[in-house]
Amino acid sequence: MRFKQTILCIIEHNGMVMKVTTSGFLDTGNIMIIPVFEGSNKAPNNATTNLSRSASIAVKSAFASDSFTGKAEESLSVWTKNCQVIIIGMGKKDDLTAKKSRDTGAKCFASLSKNHGTKIVVRYTSGWKINNMIAFTEGMILRDYVFDKYQKKDEDDKGPWSLIGQTAERYESAFRSAIENVYSVATGVHLARDLGNEPANKLYPEEFGRRALEWAKDKSNVEVEVWDYNRLKKEGMYGLIEVGKGSIHKPCMVFFRLNPNFDIEAEVPCIVGKGITFDSGGISIKGSAGMDEMKLDMHGSATVFGLFQALYATGYTGRVNGITCMAENMPSAEAYRPGDVINTYSGKTIEVLNTDAEGRNVLADGLWKAGELNPSYIIDLATLTGSVVVALGHEATGLFSNNKLLSQKIQNVGDEVDEISWPLPLLPAFEKQMTSSKIADLRNQGKGRWGGASQAAGFLKQFVQERENDDGKTQIPWAHLDIAGTAGIWGGETNVTVSHGATGVQVRALHLLITQG
Ligand code: BES
Ligand code: MN
Ligand code: ZN
Repeated sequence: MRFKQTILCIIEHNGMVMKVTTSGFLDTGNIMIIPVFEGSNKAPNNATTNLSRSASIAVKSAFASDSFTGKAEESLSVWTKNCQVIIIGMGKKDDLTAKKSRDTGAKCFASLSKNHGTKIVVRYTSGWKINNMIAFTEGMILRDYVFDKYQKKDEDDKGPWSLIGQTAERYESAFRSAIENVYSVATGVHLARDLGNEPANKLYPEEFGRRALEWAKDKSNVEVEVWDYNRLKKEGMYGLIEVGKGSIHKPCMVFFRLNPNFDIEAEVPCIVGKGITFDSGGISIKGSAGMDEMKLDMHGSATVFGLFQALYATGYTGRVNGITCMAENMPSAEAYRPGDVINTYSGKTIEVLNTDAEGRNVLADGLWKAGELNPSYIIDLATLTGSVVVALGHEATGLFSNNKLLSQKIQNVGDEVDEISWPLPLLPAFEKQMTSSKIADLRNQGKGRWGGASQAAGFLKQFVQERENDDGKTQIPWAHLDIAGTAGIWGGETNVTVSHGATGVQVRALHLLITQG
C-alpha cells in the first residue's frame, strides 16, 4: 500500500508560504522533476506513475532518446497537458555528493517558472541515497527566497510554491523527519537573509532589538534582552558606544537566550555577532563605490538571530547564549575620531587609528561580556575585513581559533553543509602589532595592510577572557569567523543557494555544530 501524503512544514516568509510535503509516488504536480543518473536510457520505476497514458509515453520516449543521457547539467523538459516534466541529469551515481545534489536542487528551483503551475513534485527514483535526496530538497528550499517587500507586487502573481518530495516507501519516515529539520533550519537562514537585506534606514540598532524582542514574545523557552544606550553607558561599554555615537540611531547590545532555565550551572556556547547596520567608515569615510553593500555589515548579528530561530524551530532543548553588538558607523559632529582612546568594557583601552576598523571595537565589548556567561566556547561572526575577501574570495569563511578541537569541529560542520570555513593563522606577531600602541593598550589598526584579517583576529583575541582550569589559567575556547566574503552576493559568485544579497551564511553550520553536541 502506498503511504499517504503528509503536510510537513509551512514557512511564512514576506507573506509568502511555501508548503513542503513528502509522499510516495502519487501526485504528479504541475511541474514534475525527475533527477536521474548517467546511463538512464529508460524511465526508472515509478517515474511515470499517475501520469496520463499519453504523458507517460512522451516521458518514456524522452528517456529513450539520444538527446538525454543523464550527464550532470543536462536537463530535458517534456511538456504534457497538465504537467511539465523535467528530467535532470545528475551524472554518475557513485560520484554524486550532497553538495552536488544541493546545488543542483537550488539551480533547478531557480530555473522554474510559475507559468505552468506552482505545485512541484520531485521524484527520487532508483539509485537515490537518502542524504542526497535530503540535500537536493534542501537546495530547493534554500533557494526559495526573494527579498521583495519593497517592490510592487505582481498583479498576476500565482501565489507561493508547494513542494512534494516523493520517495520509495522504505525511506519515507527518515526522509520526512530530515526534511522537517532542514525546513526548520531554513527558516533561520531566511530570517538571517531578511535582516541582512534590510536597508540601513529601515533596520538600525534599536529596530534590530525591537524585532528580536518581538520574535521572543510568544516563545516560552526564549528570552531576549536589549541593553540600550543608557545601559551601555552604565556598564561602561564604550567599544560599542564610541562606534555608534555618531549616528542618530544609537547603539545597543542584544542578548539571546534559548532555554534559559535549562541546566543553569553548565557551560554553554555563546555566539557573538558584529551588527554594524551601516558602515560608512565614519570619519575615516569609505569611498562611494559599493558603499551600499555596507548595509550588510550586520550579517554577523543576522546570523546569530537566524541561528536562534533555527535552534528554536528545530526544538533544540539545550541552553545557548547569543550576543549581538549593534551600532551604526557614521561621520558626524558627535562621531568618534582617529586618535581617540576608547575605554572598553574589559578595562583595556584602544587607540583609534581608523574609525573604519569599527567592528573589532564593538566586538571587544561583546567578546568580554561573552566571557562572563560561563561559556563552553565562544564563536564570533563578523564581516570584519576586506583582507579576508582578498585571501579567500567568496568561497570560504575565514576561521581563526585559539583551540584546535573547536577549529576542527567548525571545519567539519562547514564541510558537511557546504558553508566552508578555512583556517587562517593567529600568529603572535599580529597580536604584537595590535598591542603596540604608544598611548593605549591596543591599536585598532595594524602597522601595514598585510595580513589584515589576521591583524583583526589578533586584536579580538585580546578580549577573550582567561579562566582557571585543570591546566592553570587558559583562554576560553574561541573561534572568530570572518564572513566578509561569504555574507553577501553582489555579482556572479558561487553560492547557488541564493540569487542576490545576504546569504544567511553559517546559520546551517553553527546549527549543526550546536545540535550535534
Ligand atoms: N565592514 C568592513 C569590512 C568589509 C569589507 C566587509 C568588505 C565586507 C566587505 C570593516 O569594518 C572595514 O572597514 N575594515 C577595514 C579595516 C581597516 C580600516 C583596518 C578593511 O578591511 O579595509
Ligand atoms: Mn569598517
Ligand atoms: Zn565594518
